[in-house]
Amino acid sequence: MTSNPYPLGLRLHGRRVVVVGGGAVATRRVPALLDAGADVLLVAPELTPALRARADAGRLHWVPRRFVPEDLDGAWLVQVAIDDPIAAASVSAVAAERRIFCVRADDRTAATAWTPAVTRHGPVTVAVLGGGDPRRAITVRDAIRDLLAVRLAPDAIAGRPDASTGTTGGRQAGRVALVGAGPGDPELITVKGWRLLTEADVVVADRLVPGLLLDELRPDVELVDASKIPYGPSRAQEEINQILVDRALAGAFVVRLKGGDPYVFGRGGEELLACAAAGVPVTVVPGVTSSIAAPAAAGIPVTHRGVAHEFTVVSGHLAPDAPASLVRWDALAGLHGTLVILMGLKNLAAITATLIAHGRSPQTPAAVVQEATTGTQRVLRSTLGEVAADLCAADLRPPAVVVVGDVVGALDG
Ligand SMILES: C[S@@+](CC[C@H](N)C(=O)[O-])C[C@H]1O[C@@H](n2cnc3c(N)ncnc32)[C@H](O)[C@@H]1O
Repeated sequence: MTSNPYPLGLRLHGRRVVVVGGGAVATRRVPALLDAGADVLLVAPELTPALRARADAGRLHWVPRRFVPEDLDGAWLVQVAIDDPIAAASVSAVAAERRIFCVRADDRTAATAWTPAVTRHGPVTVAVLGGGDPRRAITVRDAIRDLLAVRLAPDAIAGRPDASTGTTGGRQAGRVALVGAGPGDPELITVKGWRLLTEADVVVADRLVPGLLLDELRPDVELVDASKIPYGPSRAQEEINQILVDRALAGAFVVRLKGGDPYVFGRGGEELLACAAAGVPVTVVPGVTSSIAAPAAAGIPVTHRGVAHEFTVVSGHLAPDAPASLVRWDALAGLHGTLVILMGLKNLAAITATLIAHGRSPQTPAAVVQEATTGTQRVLRSTLGEVAADLCAADLRPPAVVVVGDVVGALDG
């Protein structure tokens, strides 16, 4: 008779887990063990390159030979990840003798423990056992994961503030997260960025963050529009800093949502320093920056074997001759690699003239990518010598990225 399994959450931190086998199954199983802080002993004559990299990095101990019973000395758990049933059975037998739970990749009926299909959402881990059918477990797990991912119950995942302690189920109130929202496509925010957004009490958002992300916020979230529209009315950075600090000190969890990556021309550093000065803890979640994503969305790799071994990201918001400019345009003109210019449309004629004057060929391929990764993306292909004029003729507008270099045509057929 088969009884139901008894579910447990194993706290493996610092505890020895023996993995027997160094192939594909072990490669899939070991990361979660390491993530749980387990002290992993890997017993296998050979390892996959991925496992080898972890061994070389000192993340696990590798014994390069076949299993011997002494390998289980001090172990709390053993995972058998080999497809030789006789060898696997002998590991199982030693484990049973020592009362150590044993997971068997080759024969689940011979195992004393099963690994569930897992999905993780912040502090919540959902583990599914499929009653003996791993495919059923995966199907159910995927359904739960999708349900959680479409944010049916962010409060349940994150936990709402507890009035008595000021804390929530999985987090502390009174802190700020600087979150990169990505370049425009709402699906290009990171998983962590999205999770924190669903947990926020206050969201302070820039103009360039994908609007769809904001549409999906809970109705009770306070949304602060921190738009800094070029050449238009803008909120001073100090005021934004103050909003972050004030809301966090009042006990809110504040997400500062910024286009692209918070630290690429995003003034994220200033916001972090302001919070630190006020004693407000800050988490930084990097984002997909437009400086790489916009070229990619236009079919332009910023590096390409045999074409460009470097790429430089530069702000063009100041003209090359502006006294406050920190950019050595003359030096950039001497580079062979890719130049990616953000905020450069207004000064593009002066920038391209300066690059050409300092030696970059006017024939160098160039492209402009407007509103990359969105439904209104536009791409202009040109040359360094012509791009400023072509830009005006095509009436391209910010936000746009300018790419200069042979990579512009690298993937053309
Ligand atoms: C203030 S900077 C912020 C950059 C942002 N932190 C990042 O990592 O992408 C704004 C500039 O980024 C570029 N930009 C941002 N999003 C863009 C997009 N979807 N398409 C093209 N350029 C974009 C434009 O050059 C724009 O003027």
